[in-house]
Amino acid sequence: MSSFNWQSIKNDFPILDNSRREKPLVYLDNAATTQKPLAVIDKVDEYYKNYNANVHRGVHSLSVKATDAYEGARETVRDFINARSVRELIFVRGTTEAINLVASSYGGSKIKQGDEIIVSEMEHHSNIVPWQLLAERAGAKIKVIPINDHGELDLNNFPAMFSDKTKILAVGHISNALGTINPIKDMIKEAHKHNVPVIIDGAQAIPHSKVDVQDLDCDFYAFSGHKAYGPTGIGVLYAKEALLEAMPPYQGGGEMILRVSFDDTQFNDIPAKFEAGTPNIAGAIGMAAGLEYINNIGLDAIATYEHELLEYALERAADHPQLKLVGTAKHKASILSFLYDGVHAHDIGTILDCEGVAIRTGHHCAMPVMDHFGVPATARASFAFYNSRADIDALFKALDRVKEVFKL
Ligand code: ALA
Repeated sequence: MSSFNWQSIKNDFPILDNSRREKPLVYLDNAATTQKPLAVIDKVDEYYKNYNANVHRGVHSLSVKATDAYEGARETVRDFINARSVRELIFVRGTTEAINLVASSYGGSKIKQGDEIIVSEMEHHSNIVPWQLLAERAGAKIKVIPINDHGELDLNNFPAMFSDKTKILAVGHISNALGTINPIKDMIKEAHKHNVPVIIDGAQAIPHSKVDVQDLDCDFYAFSGHKAYGPTGIGVLYAKEALLEAMPPYQGGGEMILRVSFDDTQFNDIPAKFEAGTPNIAGAIGMAAGLEYINNIGLDAIATYEHELLEYALERAADHPQLKLVGTAKHKASILSFLYDGVHAHDIGTILDCEGVAIRTGHHCAMPVMDHFGVPATARASFAFYNSRADIDALFKALDRVKEVFKL
């Protein structure tokens, strides 16, 4: 085991301080949302207590301070994912809104009757439904990259899926339901051979591994703040500058315009063109604090430690013949999706909760994945850098309780 100091990290998260609660909590639902360190909570608190004001609108010093912090957050994001310019970063509500923005603006202007959109069978609903809505509006067709029984993308036929009708490839970096890490760099390269732009759903990848949008050469990359130790209701759409310049606005309102008249409205420059209305200022500042917190630990150390947690969990799982993993990809993030001897996932989740272990159960907003494996739901434990082997032991001890209750 690496010398990763999870204990001192855990102390930064007030919600994980068990001396403050009646019953100890083992939080293993990090793929749904991560907990927040004091560094994030304090930043948001400080904004509201000391310099709450609207951004880009006031000449008074509070507004200048809020604007500096908001635009400073954009620079933190730029540095975190190595975008060329802050002009390529749009603050949105989260991954879902980022994908909807691209489907609506880019897709709405480029995708026509008979065109094709490629997605994969392992996508989260937020990377399926916006494309379906667009396909319905435009008369376009969705083509689906299948998965194999390990929960990996089956790319044997991938190059042949492209035609001159293909207008976009939408694929997840890491599957939330299975933990599979997809070979997106190679997929982007293949798509570009056919002049097809690529949008990556990076919601599960951002907090776990280094993402460099220039190295990936993706056209769009979407992620949420709340899965990266930041607040809910804030996220990022990265898009190449030339694409954003050419795309029509997504929503109309204040801030996204230069001049409005009934004869001719001129839109603002990017990124403001895509940020109509008062933005989530506290959210952006808090998200940046979360990314800085990750940076201070270091993504390489995080990836190594979380992989060790996954290996340990897999070792422990091997002692439970009742447990069947769903998602056994060779390249996998720290997500353990499983079935337990016919017990419904919700019953597993409820019993585990009684033992103080929080996991997610259900279809994980990835029903096509559940359909592939012929199950309605799985139980899913997902690990973060504040988890420890002791948390994984607690998970398996709680699963022993499932065995007792169901007399397995
Ligand atoms: N998409 C989130 C999850 O996987 C909510 O749980």
